[in-house]
Formats: sequence, C-alpha cells, structure tokens
Amino acid sequence: MKFFIDTANLNDIAEAESLGILDGVTTNPSLMAKEKISGTEAVMAHYKKICDITDGDVSAEVISTDFEGMKAEATELVKIADNIVVKIPMIRDGVKTLAWCASQGIRTNCTLVFSAGQAILAAKAGATYVSPFIGRIDDIGWDGMQLIADIAEIYAIQGFETEILAASIRNGKHIIDAAKAGADVVTCGLSAFESLFNHPLTDIGLEKFLADHAKAAGH
Ligand code: E4P
Repeated sequence: MKFFIDTANLNDIAEAESLGILDGVTTNPSLMAKEKISGTEAVMAHYKKICDITDGDVSAEVISTDFEGMKAEATELVKIADNIVVKIPMIRDGVKTLAWCASQGIRTNCTLVFSAGQAILAAKAGATYVSPFIGRIDDIGWDGMQLIADIAEIYAIQGFETEILAASIRNGKHIIDAAKAGADVVTCGLSAFESLFNHPLTDIGLEKFLADHAKAAGH
C-alpha cells in the first residue's frame, strides 16, 4: 500500500519525505487556501515547490468545472513536473476530462467520490486513481470503509486498473481499516501517520532495554 500525505504544507511534506516511506502528496483548493496560497501563478509555483521535495505523485486539482476548462488546466498542470497527477472532480464533464486525459497519457486522480457507481465511472474513464472520501461519509453517519471494500471487490472482479486512494482519512484506525479493505493508497495528514508509531508497550520496552543496558555497563 502507498502512503500519500494530504496537505499543501511544505514543512509537513518535507517531514513525511524524510521518513523514507512517502509515496506522494494530495492537495486540494481548501488545503492550498489553508497555506494562504492564492492566484494561479502562486498555486502553480507552490506545486513546483512540492514536486521539488518529492518524486512521488503529486495531485494538483483543477478549478474549472467544464470540459474545455479542465482540459486546458490539465495541459498546464502537467508541464510543472513529471510527477504531477491531475485531480479532477467526479462530475459529468470531469468524467469526459478523465477519458481525454487518459487518451493523452495524462495521469489523473478522480476526487469527491462517494459511491461505488462513481468509482465505476472513474475506472471506465481510465482514471489513474479514484479517491473515495471516507471521513466525510462517516461524518453523515454512513460507513466510509464499506465503500472502500465495495470498490475493491468490484475492481478485482472487473479487472479495473485504477488504484483506490482512500481519502479523507482522519486517524490511524482509518489507515489500518483502509489497508484491510483493499485500498491501494491512503492519504492523510501527518498526525494520522504519526499516530501509527505509538504504542505504550514500545515505549515501556525500550525504556527497560536501555535501563538494563546501562545497568550491565555499570552506570
Ligand atoms: C483527498 O485528496 C482530499 O484532499 C482529502 O483527503 C479530503 O479530506 P477532508 O475530508 O479531511 O477534507
């Protein structure tokens, strides 16, 4: 399973990259706004900075909602770096754009996916990644993780090559459950990743090992 970090914060991306297990980055317009990056030029420059930190796939989202606009944006975004993946919303013109990008060899991430039917459309259109939003489904009282399992089952039966990118992941349990449900990729903030490090028995065990070592050494 691949690990993507879901942020536009350069320090968090660099920190995750330094762990040696980062496979990519996902961003969206809200995450860009959180970093106070606005205006096309600044946004493009920020993507370049992200691509300078990591060789992993970097999802850069289009703002247009019509076919011509999304095509034009995709064409410009992929000029930034070889590792740019164009993020396209699951709307009617988005599906057309996904299919056009596939025909041009442009890699894509279909975002804002909330149903298995939408995931089938994304795969049929040749999306590289499909992003079901787990946390947001849980937020309305439904079962986000079941959607990952359903898509994984359908993609396996149908032989679809689109990778399942579990998005809107909020915590370590989500990461583990997504891995069990068949996600190919998980994207989340740095703190959710870092929560995987934690176990009290690791801390207690290490403390004891170091204390025994010091005792044996006569300290
Ligand atoms: C994924 O690509 C999205 O940017 C993201 O995971 C959305 O997560 P949120 O629901 O926490 O905003």
